[in-house]
Amino acid sequence: MGFLKEGKVVAVPTETVYGLAADALNPSAIAKIFEIKNRPADNPLICHFSNMVQVKKFVTEIPAATISLMQHFSPGPISFMLDLPEDSPLKFATCGSPQVIARIPDHPVFLDIIKALDRPVAAPSANTSGRVSPTSAEMVEKDLGEKIEGIVEGGISRIGIESTIVDARNENEIFILRPGAIGEAEIHKILPHAKIIAVQEDSFGEKISGQQTTPGAKYRHYAPNIPVFILEDFENLDAEANMALLLTEEQLHSFSDALKKKLVSPKISLIMLGSSKNLNELAKNFYRHLATLDHIDISKAFLLKNDWDASSLGKALKNRIEKIVFRA
Ligand code: TXA
Ligand code: MG
Repeated sequence: MGFLKEGKVVAVPTETVYGLAADALNPSAIAKIFEIKNRPADNPLICHFSNMVQVKKFVTEIPAATISLMQHFSPGPISFMLDLPEDSPLKFATCGSPQVIARIPDHPVFLDIIKALDRPVAAPSANTSGRVSPTSAEMVEKDLGEKIEGIVEGGISRIGIESTIVDARNENEIFILRPGAIGEAEIHKILPHAKIIAVQEDSFGEKISGQQTTPGAKYRHYAPNIPVFILEDFENLDAEANMALLLTEEQLHSFSDALKKKLVSPKISLIMLGSSKNLNELAKNFYRHLATLDHIDISKAFLLKNDWDASSLGKALKNRIEKIVFRA
């Protein structure tokens, strides 16, 4: 735990995805994160806190709507945009931005680390920029093992996709800047009178709605090394190259015997994503399944189109899939 105090950068477990952690108030440690991840210098880092009292010490205020949401969902898979004072020591972590994105993670090991440091901890997802976020220590090791000073083992991340990011500074208008396991429906229950606006990104994450967005949204995310395409219909697929097919149990069961026969080809690697009836489990394993694409001998992958369900997690999965899909 003394690692962070010494300015070192280590991977830590969280309930969403593993983070690449450094003392958020140490500029040279922050610089190491950007170097290790090969992260664009204008892409700020989420800062993690152990509780609301600690958040309060660093921001101008915690507005009422943010307090309500934090009381219900933190510690948990949700991050909040908040204003920093003029001379904030967090501005290295935020790349000079006057706002910070603050999260209280729900993982006992990481919470202990933040408490021991007694300072905020900057931690973007522990992957090389543009690669899939890791949900296990093993995934971090494969991507960044050579470059980092340690990985704190904390099991498989329970949620499996990154936190929801919200801007709840104005109690009348709440912006969801990045969808996650906690979404519009859950927020609406706590703040029934607020207008909740999901900020739209196009497929490459460009800001299109004229609303605010997060800088990271403009970069392509989460992609494996090989191109991944959405496949509308398995029937029309020619297995002309070594490929992987990602699909749910329900999709496989819906195949006719003729289609099932087509799957028994040395050219096709099947990757079962799990059951769409248990989206929590499917989301938890989703990035690990994607990461396997980099370790089998294939040249492209197809993800069989799925509308998931209309839950917040279903929408978040859909958003992540839009970000991995290859567009020529
Ligand atoms: O679940 C999570 O949020 C994980 C775990 C480790 O906590 N972290 C994570 O961090 O996903 P990262 O850096 O991979 O994604 C954070 C996103 C980026 O798109 C970044 O641009 C945006 O949040 N962001 C961070 N700080 C910001 C700020 N001050 N203003 C605007 N956007 C910010
Ligand atoms: Mg990330």
